[in-house]
Amino acid sequence: MGIRLVSTGSYLPEKILTNHDLEEMVETSDEWITTRTGIKERRISEKETTAELAYKASLNIPDLNPEELELILVATATPDAFFPSTACKLQALLGNKNSVAFDISAACTGFIYALYVADSIMRTKGVSKALIVGAERFSKILDWSDRTTCILFGDGAGAVLLEKSEEEGILGFDLGADGSYGDLLYVNSVGSNENPPYHLKMKGNEVFKVAVRTMVDSAKRVLEKTGVSPEEISLLIPHQANVRIINAVAERLGIDKSKVFVNLDKYGNTSAASIPIALDEAVKSGAAKKGDLILFVAFGGGFTWGSCLIRL
Ligand code: ACO
Repeated sequence: MGIRLVSTGSYLPEKILTNHDLEEMVETSDEWITTRTGIKERRISEKETTAELAYKASLNIPDLNPEELELILVATATPDAFFPSTACKLQALLGNKNSVAFDISAACTGFIYALYVADSIMRTKGVSKALIVGAERFSKILDWSDRTTCILFGDGAGAVLLEKSEEEGILGFDLGADGSYGDLLYVNSVGSNENPPYHLKMKGNEVFKVAVRTMVDSAKRVLEKTGVSPEEISLLIPHQANVRIINAVAERLGIDKSKVFVNLDKYGNTSAASIPIALDEAVKSGAAKKGDLILFVAFGGGFTWGSCLIRL
């Protein structure tokens, strides 16, 4: 008995904020942002809450039958409320009453953490259908006068339906965390001694260095555990933070650029939503096909990191 990612969906809010728009807001340039990050534009949710983004991404999953879901997980660092969880709000929007629902907080690694939790629950508790969503509204936690951070992030959501199956679709994980790096990338909240507004703060170039090294090491470990070589990977779907991080990771893993999925030029860094949005685009564009070996790798605040190898 295995677990498969059977279908995917995503949703990006309508409003596009380009690098040229940002030139009007802070001392920056399209050229700087493009060469340093690879990002050209990002989406901003003007009205939709994180739960609504998650809902629209879920509705975009072909043939989703919400009543059948037994588990709903939302990976997010930007929930609508302290409680109820975004997953409970999503459950209500979907009209489901039969599931366990909760949020996962692991910043940009949230989707892989959520897959790990869902995989464990499904294998041990007899759950046969689970909805896993990465949804973020980072535009609400950015300091729009800080050019070192506001240019990087965007809003959006991606969703996958997991099902018990005869074929094995989730082949292995490598996950980790190191809280001693917490002050390199954080957003405080009411439990801290900081006063609002709570804004994202980051030491970008220090994050960059640890991100590359850690993502490479994690991906290598999951390949080693599963006995798969880099050449056998059909597609690498890395967290979409910075194209220079993605290129450095792919190069050090020995995975050809043609097998690396990149869409951060359109959406920026959507944190926990970036991998499921990319997976959905890869599936719907034909870049990812049934039977493909796909490697996810992510890194984020915490620090947290994770890799997951799947067979689609
Ligand atoms: N426009 C123009 N100039 C800028 C901007 C901007 N938006 N932001 C910073 N600068 C300036 C800096 O002030 C600095 O100027 P100085 O040399 O006069 O002091 C110069 O550009 C270089 O700044 P650095 O921070 O050294 O630039 P770097 O090449 O490291 O790029 C960046 C910055 C893009 C943030 C990069 O470090 C990065 O992507 N880090 C990873 C951070 C990240 O992605 N975090 C997200 C969560 S973790 C994850 O998802 C992996």
